[in-house]
Amino acid sequence: MTDQDFILKSYNTNIENGTVKWESPSNIALVKYWGKKAHQIPENPSISFTLSDCKTITEISFAKRDLSTSFSFEVYFEGKKNEAFKPKIQTFFERIETYMPFLRDYHFKIETSNTFPHSSGIASSASGMSAIALCLMSIERSLSEVEVTDKSFNQKASFLARLGSGSACRSIEGELVVWGKNESIPESSDLYGVKFEGDVHSNFNNFQDTILLVDKGEKQVSSTVGHQLMYGHPFAQERFKQAHENLAQLKTILASGNLDEFIKIVESEALTLHAMMMTSMPYFILMKPNTLEIINKIWSYREKTNSKVCFTLDAGANVHVLYPQKEKESVLEFIKNELIRYCQNEHYICDHIGLGANQI
Ligand code: DP6
Repeated sequence: MTDQDFILKSYNTNIENGTVKWESPSNIALVKYWGKKAHQIPENPSISFTLSDCKTITEISFAKRDLSTSFSFEVYFEGKKNEAFKPKIQTFFERIETYMPFLRDYHFKIETSNTFPHSSGIASSASGMSAIALCLMSIERSLSEVEVTDKSFNQKASFLARLGSGSACRSIEGELVVWGKNESIPESSDLYGVKFEGDVHSNFNNFQDTILLVDKGEKQVSSTVGHQLMYGHPFAQERFKQAHENLAQLKTILASGNLDEFIKIVESEALTLHAMMMTSMPYFILMKPNTLEIINKIWSYREKTNSKVCFTLDAGANVHVLYPQKEKESVLEFIKNELIRYCQNEHYICDHIGLGANQI
């Protein structure tokens, strides 16, 4: 597939208006995407667990209008008109217009809300952008003059979501999604996420992710800026190579169910991501003292109990605590007793691996 294959060629705009609605989850990367080329092409492959409960719900109502030179849309967030989200959506429309030539034919009312609190420091761009991409795909499906299979629907939704926010392309399907070309996964692509079709051991069934909200504030450095700092970064090429190797190894680990090896890759990936930030120019640190407190507590709990709990981080101070379903009770007890004191207002969110987005 090339990007040309995603251009909608034959469609009609006989449909005057309509409404579509999707809910789309967030995801947590095990091998991290950090660094990109032009047009949202990743420098290295990544793989993520799709989440289940942390999601964005988006409804788009569309109505025919006279053809114009500009896009026409309005955005509502949690019931209120929201101007702050408009520039990001404007940029998104500009990037995807080539592939969806009907965008100027309609006015769009975009109404969106999250199941997690807005000021939680949880990245909403993955769930948010994937939900919009899916709604637009449903509109495209109704206008298209050729049959759109579910496979090509998901593939193009992921392709579009990537153009909104890279990690969003991993939020269409579940339970594991790979994005970025990697030799060990022949169907993988830089253009869209693909469902991981390799063997997955039952140790990973209903894997748990408890998100500890260490810092709910705005990040000092956005992911987009962080990605840019990988240009000319002294360790970048080694890092990109390492991500390829870690993904290939993780494929074997997912099949064998070896949780000790899983922990090594996942925690090393999280710390490498933050090491890249600390060695960028300008350098920056997104972890907070309580992030480190939590990491140390997890390590000593693991030593004491032989638990298979581990952590990962995204581009912020919050900690994702990952653990097998069969340890749910004991690890939750540990979290409540020893970790929530490090969270802002003792706030945490329990989630688990999920199956992907749903049309509502
Ligand atoms: C650290 O997808 O938010 O979460 O493509 O610029 O929107 P943009 O960046 P974004 O980056 C996410 C980076 C990460 C790692 C990951 O999810 O793989």
